[in-house]
Amino acid sequence: MENKLILTQDGSHTLLSEKFGTHYHSIFGAMNESEHVFLKEGLLKFIHKATLSILETGFGTGLNAWLTLQKTKNQTVYYTAFETNPISIALASQLNYPEIVLKDDFLKLHTCQWGKPFRLAQHFTLLKLNHPVQEYSLQSEFDLIYHDAFAPNIQPELWDRTLFKKYFDSLFPGGILVTYCAKGDVRRALMEVGFKIEKIPGPSGKRHMLRANKPIA
Ligand SMILES: C[S@@+](CC[C@H](N)C(=O)[O-])C[C@H]1O[C@@H](n2cnc3c(N)ncnc32)[C@H](O)[C@@H]1O
Repeated sequence: MENKLILTQDGSHTLLSEKFGTHYHSIFGAMNESEHVFLKEGLLKFIHKATLSILETGFGTGLNAWLTLQKTKNQTVYYTAFETNPISIALASQLNYPEIVLKDDFLKLHTCQWGKPFRLAQHFTLLKLNHPVQEYSLQSEFDLIYHDAFAPNIQPELWDRTLFKKYFDSLFPGGILVTYCAKGDVRRALMEVGFKIEKIPGPSGKRHMLRANKPIA
């Protein structure tokens, strides 16, 4: 099933998933959501760390990975992204993101091989895994998790304690998870596996989002 290209309110594209019947980003602004939830409230907390290990569910259009690549030029980044339904290169080439001057560089995110670390830039290594994240055995090696799954009513298996416990165990102490979703059930499930939760202002069109912190001790 193919996805449909949609223009969001800040002028950036998202996709409408035929399979899941929902959008990949907020229709109030894909770029705005990504920059607010994942970059400002997640990545920025680690901007002075020399080496950074990030996990993303799911990779989708590659927007979060692309923005992270742009914002971390003075760091060394290992970026692991799970995705069960990779989009086609034809569709990726129509996305209007990358302050997309360097279209070829953006497309490398999509054309690079799955299952093998790929040095996308001198400072940035991408490992794309074409695997359901909840079935994968995660190593304990991440500073930051971008949890960008479709909503809990669409994919409840990506918002339960089983996956959140795996995330918790895979983070270094002091590590954080950010997500656009602030639902009470999600907040409680994250707390039950040990996270300390912050409910913070969300991006345009959304009152709140969550930041989940793994305590240092
Ligand atoms: C909200 S979209 C992600 C948006 C993406 N971060 C972006 O910037 O375009 C959710 C993504 O999760 C993927 N997905 C669905 N089930 C998954 C699973 N079990 N494990 C990993 N990814 C999954 C979907 O195919 C979709 O691309």
